[in-house]
Amino acid sequence: MALYTTITDAITEYTGLSPTAFFTILAMMVVVYKIVSTMFVAADDYVAVKRDQQFILREPVQIGSITEQELRPYDGSDPNKPLLMAIKGKIYDVSRSRMFYGPGGAYSLFAGRDASRALALMSFEPSDLTGDISGLSASELEVLEDWEAKFEEKYVKVGELVSEKPSTTEGETKED
Ligand code: HEM
Repeated sequence: MALYTTITDAITEYTGLSPTAFFTILAMMVVVYKIVSTMFVAADDYVAVKRDQQFILREPVQIGSITEQELRPYDGSDPNKPLLMAIKGKIYDVSRSRMFYGPGGAYSLFAGRDASRALALMSFEPSDLTGDISGLSASELEVLEDWEAKFEEKYVKVGELVSEKPSTTEGETKED
C-alpha cells in the first residue's frame, strides 16, 4: 500500500494530474498508438514487402518454341526470368500470379511445367506433372479445356513446347 501511495503521490507531484486522470490519459495514448500503428506497415512485414518488390512485373516476352526441359528454369526461382507454365503445349506467362505459382505458392509445382495431365485430373501427384494426356476420359479432357480457356483469357501465350531432341532421352526424367 505504501508503494501505491508513493506512486500516486509522485504522479501528482510530477504531472499535476490526479492518478485517475493520469491513467485515463495514458490509456487513451495507448489506444491512439494502436490505431495509428495499424495504418503503417509493421517492421516485419516491411521486409516481406521489399522482397516482393524485387519481382518487378515485366511485360510478357515471346519465347518461341522450347522443350519441356528448357521450360523448367522458368519456375520462379530466378527473379530475372518470367514465370511460365504450359497447358496442352502452349506456354503462358503466369508472372502476374506469382502468389499462386511462385516459390512457396500453392500451385508452384506447376511452374516451369506442362501441367495438362495434373489439371485434367485435378491432381497434385508428381507423376501427373506432364503434358502427356493420353488415356484421359472425355470428362477429364473437358476439365482440361476449361483450364485452357481460363488461361487463354487470363494470361498471355508466349510460346509453345516442342518435343525433346531425339538424342537426349534422359531429359524425359521427371524426378525434380
Ligand atoms: C481443396 C481443393 C482446392 C481449393 C479449396 C482451391 C482453391 C483455389 C482458390 C481459392 C484459387 C484462387 C482463385 C482465384 O483467385 O482466381 C485457386 C486457384 C487455382 N487452383 Fe485451386 N483449389 C483446390 C484444388 C485445386 C486442384 C486439385 C488443382 C489442380 C490440380 C487446382 C488448381 C488451381 C490453379 C491452377 C489455380 C490458379 C488459376 C489461375 O492461375 O488463375 N486447385 N484454387
